[in-house]
Amino acid sequence: MSFIYKDLLGLQYLDKKDLETILDSVKPFKTLFTRSVKKAPTLVGKTVVTLFYEPSTRTRTSFEIAAKRLSADVVNLSVNASSVVKGESLIDTGKTLAAMNADYIIIRHSMTGAPEILARALDVSIINAGDGFHEHPTQGLLDLYTIHEKKGRVEGLNVLLVGDILHSRVAKSNIWALTKMGANVAVAGPPTLIPSNIQKLGVKVFYNLDEAIKTADVINILRIQLERQQENLFPSVHEYVELYQLTKTRLAKAKSDVLLMHPGPMNRGIEISSDAADSSNAAINEQVTNGIAVRMAVLFLLKPNRSKNEN
Ligand code: CP
Repeated sequence: MSFIYKDLLGLQYLDKKDLETILDSVKPFKTLFTRSVKKAPTLVGKTVVTLFYEPSTRTRTSFEIAAKRLSADVVNLSVNASSVVKGESLIDTGKTLAAMNADYIIIRHSMTGAPEILARALDVSIINAGDGFHEHPTQGLLDLYTIHEKKGRVEGLNVLLVGDILHSRVAKSNIWALTKMGANVAVAGPPTLIPSNIQKLGVKVFYNLDEAIKTADVINILRIQLERQQENLFPSVHEYVELYQLTKTRLAKAKSDVLLMHPGPMNRGIEISSDAADSSNAAINEQVTNGIAVRMAVLFLLKPNRSKNEN
């Protein structure tokens, strides 16, 4: 099994073989979770820095747990308490961390392309933990892994993404990964929240959720970014709930074994009802658990160019 990349910037840059290599690498790390000592010496002596310019619960915490389980030293840079607030640029912050011999920087930023700027400038491995509306590759990978684990395959499955596709980096990474792996991907949501050219990515579009869910094997519900209502992209939360909330009643119209997913954080009562989120179809907590194993695999597979550190 080989993987030659320094960085993970997005799933659009990987091919099917790369995705299969990552999926194959996750299982041994997941097996580690059942042991009393959940650690491997893989990254002894390596330093992993998390650099989050936006809030996070799942991604930052699971990267920290993943890196610690691989025996790396982990530093969580608190951006609000760092020299960023004094005006230090992204690139100078990156160079400062590289000068401290960071081997991996995991970055979340509101600006599309911020991880790529660091990746071009530094020898350090850069992992995109979400950039603007662009991509959230490790979320896409953990969703892919969860689908494969629960359904036994990805190829030929009907996977439906519901909600704010336009602003969702999770949706973009899911679409790149799932289409490459041979799934039939569809999106459903209000016309104002679906990019007009999305079909070019090989995706089917539904504006009627009840119609869309009938044939789905997997339904992945996306968070409604409530701030979008101020941009008048949907008329009211009430109307969104009426037309697009995934409820237990709606779920009853889907296949009985449909897999229900949500990347989190959930707005219960808005894009998903509590009875649906807590139903036996839901794999939302499994997604979180798989996130650690997937991020361990990504840290294991990437190759920082820091040969100067190896002496
Ligand atoms: N799914 C996801 O990215 O969650 P966080 O914002 O909590 O990291």
